[in-house]
Amino acid sequence: MTAINPVTDFSKDGEIGIITLNSPPVNALSAKVRDGLFEGFKAAIADPAVKAIVLICDGRTFIAGADISEFGGAMGGASLFDVQNMMEESPKPVIAAIHGTALGGGLEVALCAHYRIAVPSARCGLPEVNLGLLPGAGGTQRLPRIAGVEKALEMVTSGQHVPAKECLAMGLVDELAEEGKLKDGAIAFARKIVAENRPLVKVRDNNKKLEEAKGHPEIFANFRKANARKFRGFKAPEANIQCIEAAVSLPFEEGLKVERKLFGEVMMSPHSAAQRYYFFAERQANKIPDVPDDTPLIPIKKVGIIGAGTMGGGIAMNFVNAGIPVTIVEVKQDALDRGLKVVRGNYERSAKNGRFPMSEVDKRMAMFNGSLDMSSLADCDLVIEAVFERMDIKKDIFTRLDAICKPGAILATNTSGLNIDEIASVTKRPEAVIGLHFFSPANVMKLLEIVRADHTSKSVIATSMKLAKTIGKIAVLVGVCPGFVGNRILGARGREAQKMVLEGAMPWDVDRVLYDFGFPMGPFAMSDLAGLDIGWVKEKSHGETIRDVLCEADRRGQKTGAGYYDYDPETRAAKPSPVTEKIIKDFVSKSGKNPRTIPDDEILERCIYPMINEGAKILEEKKAIRPSDIDVVWVNGYGWPVYRGGPMHYGDFIGLDKVLAKMKEFQATMGDAFKPAALLEKLVAEGKKFSDLR
Ligand code: 3HC
Repeated sequence: MTAINPVTDFSKDGEIGIITLNSPPVNALSAKVRDGLFEGFKAAIADPAVKAIVLICDGRTFIAGADISEFGGAMGGASLFDVQNMMEESPKPVIAAIHGTALGGGLEVALCAHYRIAVPSARCGLPEVNLGLLPGAGGTQRLPRIAGVEKALEMVTSGQHVPAKECLAMGLVDELAEEGKLKDGAIAFARKIVAENRPLVKVRDNNKKLEEAKGHPEIFANFRKANARKFRGFKAPEANIQCIEAAVSLPFEEGLKVERKLFGEVMMSPHSAAQRYYFFAERQANKIPDVPDDTPLIPIKKVGIIGAGTMGGGIAMNFVNAGIPVTIVEVKQDALDRGLKVVRGNYERSAKNGRFPMSEVDKRMAMFNGSLDMSSLADCDLVIEAVFERMDIKKDIFTRLDAICKPGAILATNTSGLNIDEIASVTKRPEAVIGLHFFSPANVMKLLEIVRADHTSKSVIATSMKLAKTIGKIAVLVGVCPGFVGNRILGARGREAQKMVLEGAMPWDVDRVLYDFGFPMGPFAMSDLAGLDIGWVKEKSHGETIRDVLCEADRRGQKTGAGYYDYDPETRAAKPSPVTEKIIKDFVSKSGKNPRTIPDDEILERCIYPMINEGAKILEEKKAIRPSDIDVVWVNGYGWPVYRGGPMHYGDFIGLDKVLAKMKEFQATMGDAFKPAALLEKLVAEGKKFSDLR
């Protein structure tokens, strides 16, 4: 074995040359890797004893793409195009041997091999779109030549990781190797190619599938139309589509030029900068400075849930889906039956939609043990309380759990804002108490706020973070404060939205501005969806707020067919409501205020800047570890458009000095709700950004 460079080896097995990359964690195409590939292929091609060349990777995966951390800086080392050219033009067959994932630039490298072999567990994809990019190394030109235009469109705009078997079926992979025996399989395959004198297949020369799509522009028109909602606000999907169009309409080299031009454009866009920032933010959120990687974990083999309502049932489904049995406790049989029926209904719907076979529904339901007796939680490793948001009830439950649960069990609350230290104080084991704040619907929403109380042990934190991954959630560790991170910032936005309505804006004006910013819906549409009567008590309602008046008129949101908006009884489409408008106008005139038209700019700034400011306060109080954690919460839990990075990234993007100046201007005219956070003042004074706090 010869070391080509620190991350690349060259070896021979008889007449087969083997280039092995080993650049942890994911063999990304850094300058060193590109250099290694370039020199490795040069050596293999020059070696007269070598008849075919296998490219394989050590570690967990084949090349997972370009090295994203290099983007935006000067790129040293060999160019990827030179590497690809050398592979494709090699006079000896080149075989890419794939395990783990061949993604982005990794798949683009593999597409320049003459043949590809993969283990069954491998996956291939071009996920650049998720970074606000497009495949910039020929992927958009080569993939449709193998997969066909429609499949290529789907793959580049979704970024999906396609399983090896499907890759084999579409010809993206030529052969499957036995799991765990990729190297042997690849060498044997290479020998077969040499023995059979198979041709040097260049994907770029295969135009058959493109010819089929020529003269059918409706393929693209239909695709754009079908996905318009999904792509709204994003720039990269359209750029990806245009590249595939170029593959169909232009010769290969010309298509490559279009790809390169559009790649440059998306790469320079703030959208891609935000999405790349977000990629690392999500991974950073897993790192807890004072909880080392080797912190002992508590094995979680059985979970208990208290409360079979919407939240409890949804939470329970996450564990069952991951193969962890659940005991779910309710106070009354009918509530338990109702809860389990809803869960079954959810599973049946998934089965009908083809997510899994119908037989799976019963298998999953068999993992639920319903009980009316809290003592059946005695052997659970984790218990999550998901009952009403009332401190007295929660304290009572935790007192009982403390007596019932086995030593070492984690006692979690799903509260969305109550003081977890107070809840923990009723137990003799506050170190076992933690907040696991799921978002509704809990079986769907990705975000999990993990709330660390004063005494929560490191083991309990590490186990909760790990468990979040097991059940497919994106976890962010936050501290105890009213509303934690997500709802606290939501409160800052909601207050201003409400105030603007009292000043003359209509709910749909506010919602439209936020929708255009990229949110799936604005705060008023969101209230209608959740139900305006959450926390509203009929007996205590005296028309003191617009919400009171709406609820009193039985306009309680979507469920009653009317709330801030009117809802079409057939389509459930929202329409601005003349009734609401009159209610608001009467309310404002009674308050003696002169309504005014609020410009869109002001609506946006008054909604968004207080959020950034609240985020700064959260950081000051150390309720979030880092600014990017706040962004992960907002992107995953509240629909903040990922191409704007999150509120803190957005603050950096527009300039904290600008945010501060506006907050001061608003404070002068509208009071201390706009008082700038000390941290915001400090960062501006020091000429720094939130990202400097990392
Ligand atoms: N560049 C740099 N670092 C990368 C990386 C990449 N392409 N992919 C992953 N990493 C890093 C992560 O930041 C993480 O670092 P950390 O341990 O310091 O936090 C580490 O590798 C492991 O990543 P994950 O925690 O995500 O590990 P998983 O096993 O869960 O997932 C993966 C592995 C599926 C490969 C996932 O990391 C992934 O999706 N990576 C990105 C793939 C991608 O987008 N490729 C396209 C890049 S752009 C491109 O290729 C442009 C080209 O067309 C020219």
